[in-house]
Amino acid sequence: MASPTSGGEREKLVSKLPAPLRQALKVRAAQLSTDVQDAVTDGIQAWRAHPEPLPTVDTAGAESFGTWLPEGLYDAFKQDCVTREVSYIQGLAQAVALWLAQNPVGDEAAPTRRIIVCNQKGGVGKTAVTAGLAQALAEDPSELTPAEKPSELTDEPGDAASMAEVAARLGLRVLMVDYDPQGHLSHQLGLKAIPAGADSLITHMLNREQAKTPLLDLTVAIDEARFGDRLRILPAAFDAFLLDSGLTMFRGPRHAALERALAQLEEHFDVIVIDCPPSLGLAMDAAIYYSRRRDGEKPGSSGLVITVEAEDTSAQAYGMLINQVGSLTSDYEIEVEQLGLVVNKYDSRRGYIATSSLDKWRSLGSPSVLAVIGDLKEQREAVRLQRALLAYAPESDQAKHMRTIARRLT
Ligand SMILES: Nc1ncnc2c1ncn2[C@@H]1O[C@H](COP(=O)(O)OP(=O)(O)O)[C@@H](O)[C@H]1O
Ligand SMILES: [Mg+2]
Repeated sequence: MASPTSGGEREKLVSKLPAPLRQALKVRAAQLSTDVQDAVTDGIQAWRAHPEPLPTVDTAGAESFGTWLPEGLYDAFKQDCVTREVSYIQGLAQAVALWLAQNPVGDEAAPTRRIIVCNQKGGVGKTAVTAGLAQALAEDPSELTPAEKPSELTDEPGDAASMAEVAARLGLRVLMVDYDPQGHLSHQLGLKAIPAGADSLITHMLNREQAKTPLLDLTVAIDEARFGDRLRILPAAFDAFLLDSGLTMFRGPRHAALERALAQLEEHFDVIVIDCPPSLGLAMDAAIYYSRRRDGEKPGSSGLVITVEAEDTSAQAYGMLINQVGSLTSDYEIEVEQLGLVVNKYDSRRGYIATSSLDKWRSLGSPSVLAVIGDLKEQREAVRLQRALLAYAPESDQAKHMRTIARRLT
């Protein structure tokens, strides 16, 4: 098929395109480093060459759209529309949909995202958010029932465009890493911590040469139909209690120890979500370093999700975490992004302390508040039953909050 003329004369196409398609076109073209005009040209040429009629695209509410095509192509395309008895708007929508289908984003275009869920305070919901976020990223959005969808994002027409594109970017291969020696995440999903001395993330970090079992073999699939085979966990290790002291004696770049261990897993996952320990030691330094923005990585891809509560000690803990991030970014000349805050176990009945604290979190502006989650029973029930929350209570508010967070982070 002829490729679009570059350098030749172009003429303006003025038509209409449904907002979700226009948005998807813009994002995909950017991902593939292609101009929108070349993408549309390719799409129209493929549409013209396509032997069979293409499925009708819903063009209700299409908005004005303009781009530039090689001279003569628009007229030829319009002629084809007449012959095929479709409107120009329908023809263009089909051509763009065809281009999107024929130009998927390859794995190489999307490096593994690294999200660490942190706060050195215990009991604020790091583990709950790690698990819920990972599950929501792994779910196939096209299989959600209306009752499972987070209403705040689906009801707003203005968000329809981003929903279409975001939906295309969920259903990901996700790894949860239980990086807290207490092993709550592993336990909640029915797994035991790896025994002392056996190969684990910790041996791969501190004793790489001696570790025999590849880390992928230590990961365990979460066996629930809705995650397909996309969601896995790297369980905690008993030895994790020794990690901070082990890193003190570590010969080599200790801040890069987690990165060097997890590197072997990255090709197998689109996103790695790490449940951090409630501490600010060397293990945490290694996690923060791992979440830094890599060369060429898009903003908003990797970084910190910080779980907090609406009370004063959470604000103090946040301040200390941010200080630690500040030292690392200046020591290693790296950029670490705060992807957002999750205000958890929020209860406005607690009065002024709760409401004014929430206002303070919101007034930060950056990082933004990704979700405000109440104290909800399904979370505790899922933990007790050792089930993944989104499989145990897929229609619960807690599950919907997790989907909202996942969508805001994609
Ligand atoms: N929104 C919530 N509603 C009710 N219980 C919650 C909520 N978030 C967390 N929990 C429960 O609170 C406890 C502490 O949460 P967890 O995620 O383990 O915190 P952390 O990892 O920060 O120590 C757990 O029993 C968890 O199930
Ligand atoms: Mg925890």
